[in-house]
Amino acid sequence: MKRIGLLGCGAIGTEIALAIDSGKISAKLTHIYDFSKNASAMLANKLQNKPQITENVSLLATAPVDLIVEAASQDAVRDNALSILQNRKDLMIMSVGALVDESIFDVILDGCMDFNKQVYLPSGAIIGLDGIRSVKDEIESVILVTTKNPKALKGAIFFETSKIDLDSIKEATTIYEGSAQEAVKLFPANVNVAALLSLAGIGSQKTRVKIIADPSTDKNIHEIQTQGKFGRFSIKVENIPSESNPKTSRLAILSAIECLRKICGSDIQLGT
Ligand SMILES: NC(=O)c1ccc[n+]([C@@H]2O[C@H](COP(=O)([O-])OP(=O)(O)OC[C@H]3O[C@@H](n4cnc5c(N)ncnc54)[C@H](O)[C@@H]3O)[C@@H](O)[C@H]2O)c1
Repeated sequence: MKRIGLLGCGAIGTEIALAIDSGKISAKLTHIYDFSKNASAMLANKLQNKPQITENVSLLATAPVDLIVEAASQDAVRDNALSILQNRKDLMIMSVGALVDESIFDVILDGCMDFNKQVYLPSGAIIGLDGIRSVKDEIESVILVTTKNPKALKGAIFFETSKIDLDSIKEATTIYEGSAQEAVKLFPANVNVAALLSLAGIGSQKTRVKIIADPSTDKNIHEIQTQGKFGRFSIKVENIPSESNPKTSRLAILSAIECLRKICGSDIQLGT
């Protein structure tokens, strides 16, 4: 059985830990770390099989585990991904927005090759990445249309310079169109979906992003439209937010669990 270490004990980390504890994922959760001691203690309390809470992230990176699951933050990826790989651990990354920065992407890729380790990026809050990957050499255009309630868009860096007043929006309104590379900087809350799409397809400069504020929705809706020599397809996901962290979609949690189940299982592998 694979031994798992967990970095980040919030909404995603907790659900992953519970899935391991219940036997849904065939693995052992042996070590956990969160810079909030309260978060790691609360998680350990919920588990039948108690993991060790490490004092710091270095002790997690050097612990006797096979794979570390990052479910913390982009900073946690930037600061620790290389040292985790150097310590000969595979790594599953949830905060994939960190990889849009090409220098971080290159460091992680080099780490995989230098230390012969795997990095896993679950599909998260979208579906269809298998299809995007398959057709990437034939894609002519790909666009992500994200629709959210104006409340879910509040606080984005975009509004520091834009004249748009979210409170005055009464019907579905396009508030932004641009490249995924720019969108992830202006709308960090959408960073993971746009980043995954860019990494699977034709890169963050060519991937287009459109953001719609719609006061009539309570879901995080992501629609991907792509076309090229292969034909065309569109994918629409209407996500219900997680109860413990409304910024995180329920699908992202389920996708992380399924990805880990696949990595840890002796199984028939389904899909691309
Ligand atoms: N790939 C996807 O589709 C997808 C979807 C949703 C969320 N995410 C990302 O996954 C990550 C976790 O999401 P969540 O909903 O569980 O968040 P959360 O806020 O519920 O939990 C994050 C936990 O990590 C801890 N943490 C943050 N930075 C840390 C660090 N540097 N070192 C140690 N602990 C740290 C926090 O204290 C918190 O307990 C976020 O970065 C989020 O953006 C990815």
